[in-house]
Amino acid sequence: MKNKNPFLISGYGGSKYFCDRKEETEQLIRLIKNQVNVSLFAYRRLGKTGLIKHVHNQLKDDKEIVCLYIDILGTTELGEFTNMLATCVYNEFQKNNTIGKKIIKAIQSLRPNISFDEFTGSPSISFNISSKSQNEATLQQLFKFLDDQEIQITLTIDEFQQVLEYPENNTESILRTQMQQLKNIQFIFCGSNQKIMHEIFNNAKRPFFASCTPMSLGYIAQDEYSTFIRKMFESANREIDQTTLDFICSWTMRHTFYTQYFCNFLFASKYKKIDLKIAQKIALEILDTHESTFFQYRNLLTTPQWKTLMAVAKEERLLQPTATSFIQKYKLGTPSTVSRSIHALLEKEMILYNTSVEHPYYEVYDKFLLRWLEKGN
Ligand SMILES: Nc1ncnc2c1ncn2[C@@H]1O[C@H](COP(=O)(O)OP(=O)(O)OP(=O)(O)O)[C@@H](O)[C@H]1O
Ligand SMILES: [Mg+2]
Repeated sequence: MKNKNPFLISGYGGSKYFCDRKEETEQLIRLIKNQVNVSLFAYRRLGKTGLIKHVHNQLKDDKEIVCLYIDILGTTELGEFTNMLATCVYNEFQKNNTIGKKIIKAIQSLRPNISFDEFTGSPSISFNISSKSQNEATLQQLFKFLDDQEIQITLTIDEFQQVLEYPENNTESILRTQMQQLKNIQFIFCGSNQKIMHEIFNNAKRPFFASCTPMSLGYIAQDEYSTFIRKMFESANREIDQTTLDFICSWTMRHTFYTQYFCNFLFASKYKKIDLKIAQKIALEILDTHESTFFQYRNLLTTPQWKTLMAVAKEERLLQPTATSFIQKYKLGTPSTVSRSIHALLEKEMILYNTSVEHPYYEVYDKFLLRWLEKGN
């Protein structure tokens, strides 16, 4: 499509629409090829899933590696996890003749129910599992079928922290035990909750301790992102100057989804020659578009939480929430009130705490909300 908006805000559209992540892509491919299990952390909407899809795209012509991906956010128990994995395997191996037939036959031997999506027609597998032990056995068989094919498989489990919500409180140990028995399957566990990911993979008392190589995604470098944005506009015969590119990167803080969204909006505006004034107008339009959501956030928070959130926004990056100077500047009450609010805001994922830098800081998660709060709403 000639006039397609090149700034995607959902899904993956191929290398052409994917900015940078060269090092991370290389690193992940190297880890996959060397069968090293990985835990991949990044804040929400920074590009974990995009990176995985990009890596899969790079590996699509590699006949020796099969890439599997499941997003378990919507699952609530181990049985659903097993069904999702089986569905993914079933769909993937329908494409492959020899091994495919064997795997499909093996899945059929587990007597699944196969239903078809009424819109897409794609099959969905579920097992009639009545007991916990049967569930574990089914999962084990599924992994074993895959492992026995003597092909290399990389399995990404996105939103991995979801397993902690399962009623089976030993899901981690079940998966870890399975994992240790496999020779040909390499795992990538993705998650966006830093605290939970850290707990799962770095707590010596938990099954996954020291089982994975940690990787974390940061922000795309400013010059890479500006160049990408400029090229996208230029290929549609439109112009954008450097000051405007710098403004976009700093206003969205290069938090990938927000930068993409901004550029998508800007691209949709049809201006041929884009300058700072136009970008600033677009910024206000975006905030207007989202204002009703921001008001809803306000209704979900207590007054001290809201005031603290606004103060964090105004600081952009806050190092010490309990410092007297900060509390007095925004009239936030006592340090313990602020501590409680910060805790609640972290739990609600309204703010993030970046601990992977020399001086850890708090920041409002949603960059549009941050800019809206900053205006003093
Ligand atoms: N390198 C990139 N270049 C261009 N767009 C990207 C890039 N990475 C991600 N995106 C886009 O940014 C948005 C957010 O990325 P993605 O969904 O991969 O993030 P995520 O970390 O998986 O988020 P979540 O935690 O919500 O699952 C998507 O719309 C995606 O298309
Ligand atoms: Mg994702």
